[in-house]
Amino acid sequence: MPTPTSHVRVVDHPVLAHLLTEARDRQTPPGRFRAVIAQLGELLAYEAVRDLPLKSAPIQTPLEPFPGQRLGGKVTLVPILRAGLGLAEGAQRLLPDASVGHIGMFRDERRLSPVSYYDKLPPDIANTAVLLLDPMLATGGSALAALELLRSRGCRDIRLICVLASPEGIERLAAEAPDVRIITAAVDRELDDRGYILPGLGDAGDRMFGTSE
Ligand code: PRP
Ligand code: URA
Repeated sequence: MPTPTSHVRVVDHPVLAHLLTEARDRQTPPGRFRAVIAQLGELLAYEAVRDLPLKSAPIQTPLEPFPGQRLGGKVTLVPILRAGLGLAEGAQRLLPDASVGHIGMFRDERRLSPVSYYDKLPPDIANTAVLLLDPMLATGGSALAALELLRSRGCRDIRLICVLASPEGIERLAAEAPDVRIITAAVDRELDDRGYILPGLGDAGDRMFGTSE
């Protein structure tokens, strides 16, 4: 396994390892797969927002005043359709007040390059911390195209949450988007000649929505 570069955080936790095995298991049916990806989304988002600012929020407990704190910065969740929707479901449980923007993109399976078909992002997104959500970082093409769009809308604080990353995808992002932090549950061995992550979990979107052949 290659050593991840400094902008990659591989979250090491027994609960994540357990969930990841369920996600990888070809016998896991779509309903359970979706639930597992959502749970991973919640746990990975928890790690990704460790450094969010807090603001002072004095309150009264039932017994006395208390110098409370509340989240001070706005967050936007941006799932890449389709598979990012599962992660967004979990991340929304953690951050129910976060806005959600959507980017529609699929990989042309012959060229392995991303094809964009939709975007709807909140107008104030530039002033928020963005969690870009996609379970699979394979060639990195989809993530880089999404990052280009987010940058064109003024986003500067962008963190990419994925479930599995390939060494190739990490290297490409390190070279082309070194300011973007990647938070992942694992870095897998390699890509196969069809651009699938090995050992991987297969096609995340198909497994989530039951569209495998
Ligand atoms: C998958 C995945 C990523 C992309 C990763 O989406 O969810 O978006 O592939 O591959 P890359 O790093 O090589 O670009 P897919 O194209 O299968 O679309 P789908 O989620 O709609 O099925
Ligand atoms: N997209 C997926 O869904 N799975 C892979 O292994 C690679 C890209």
